Amino acid sequence: RTEIRQLFASPQDFEGKTVTVCGWVRTIRDSKALGFIELNDGGCFNNLQIVFEDEKINNFKEVTKYNVGSAICVTGTLLLTPQAKQPFEIHAQEIVLEGASTPDYPLQKKRHTLEYLRTIAHLRPRTNTLSAVFRVRSVAAYAIHRFFNERGFVYAHTPLITASDCEGAGEMFRVTTLDPVNPPLNEDGTVDFSQDFFGKPANLTVSGQLEGECMAMAFGKIYTFGPTFRAENSNTPRHAAEFWMIEPEIAFADLNDDMELARDMIKYVLKYVMEQCPAEMKFFNQFFDKGLIERLSALIDSEFGHVTYTEAIRILEEHKDEFEYPVYWGVDLQTEHERYLTEKVFKCPVFVTDYPKEIKAFYMRLNDDNKTVAAMDLLVPGVGEIIGGSQREERLDVLLGRMEELSLSPEDYNWYLDLRRYGGTKHAGFGLGFERLIMYITGISNIRDVLPFPRTTGSAEY
Ligand code: 4AD
Ligand code: MG
Repeated sequence: RTEIRQLFASPQDFEGKTVTVCGWVRTIRDSKALGFIELNDGGCFNNLQIVFEDEKINNFKEVTKYNVGSAICVTGTLLLTPQAKQPFEIHAQEIVLEGASTPDYPLQKKRHTLEYLRTIAHLRPRTNTLSAVFRVRSVAAYAIHRFFNERGFVYAHTPLITASDCEGAGEMFRVTTLDPVNPPLNEDGTVDFSQDFFGKPANLTVSGQLEGECMAMAFGKIYTFGPTFRAENSNTPRHAAEFWMIEPEIAFADLNDDMELARDMIKYVLKYVMEQCPAEMKFFNQFFDKGLIERLSALIDSEFGHVTYTEAIRILEEHKDEFEYPVYWGVDLQTEHERYLTEKVFKCPVFVTDYPKEIKAFYMRLNDDNKTVAAMDLLVPGVGEIIGGSQREERLDVLLGRMEELSLSPEDYNWYLDLRRYGGTKHAGFGLGFERLIMYITGISNIRDVLPFPRTTGSAEY
């Protein structure tokens, strides 16, 4: 059996040869004694043109009745067709039906809306768009592993079930073995978690960072790449309850090293995907974002923008009439503000650094002004924030002070504080939202269309 991508990679190697290909029928038409099938096997973007003739196969009538969506195997000869729309075609000698499809197959030749396709998540990977997105997703994931491995990073697996709330935003999914209707109670009426599986409240991780820091203090350079969960009740095009995050953590490094790493990684992944997925990128460029390829290509050799939070607020305040949400020093930037900065002001990806400590997590390193922290977010056109990172607070006394301000109990974080007691060093890291990166690369504007089975509020059919 030959894969269709092998044929497209070097059709001349197969010229005149007999091959067998298996896939799903995308379109089928016939007139009298001649018919055509566009076959797709998912291994590449392109459809393979099959020509079948009454004279050459023994089940012509039967084949003409196959429905779109049917699974078939075709044995035939490859013919180069330089004059035609497709560079080559297969002239069938035998067509075998592996699995029939019915006439009510939901994916007919017309273009379906992305909204409709979300209602059939189990079938939509067979469409051009979703098939291209998920193949790019796979290639981008591989590029990320390649990038970090080439640079000597250790891939660290951090737990999905954890007792800590890394971001302190309280957006956790509780994991418990207790009966939610009749949980065991303490004398004061509170739930007795000592009887729970873990002996204390546990939740799905919102970030692997804290455990990642432990690994970085042993290996120097680590990255995580795994599922992340947030019970944020925000129904937006860029939030999902389950998403994938990449979190590198580097020892003996500051915020500048962190930004450099983020920039190099983004450029590496863009370049790799554009090299490996030219057909997919051409498709996105044509149907979703006309300037996509040009913009991403230009980025590979250009600098990213950089602005401090304070400066960003000053810029945004000049345009405050254009925003729904108010802007003033101390406010958390909204998507509209982020997009304005990256799309209207900088017109390229931009790092915003040194945010007020009040709107950032407890672990970020306090700057000398005592008001801001060594944080960085990377904003990109079309999406907004795709990366959030920081230099970490390595000074035990300062960290304890911050935790006290935020009413975090040091006993709960003893292991984390140990990293500052035993050979602590300056260190930094960031989290890249994988889906947001895929949105940026493909020009697809809703996170529900870059996740095979998106988990958002009120959606767990699959
Ligand atoms: O900015 P965040 O919350 O940062 C952290 O979790 C840090 N612990 C990372 C670190 O320093 N190691 O999240 C990081 C990124 C965001 O920039 C965004 O791209 C993505 O994760 N993200 C989401 N993506 C999809 N759906 C959601 N609900 C997301 N929440 C965050
Ligand atoms: Mg963030």
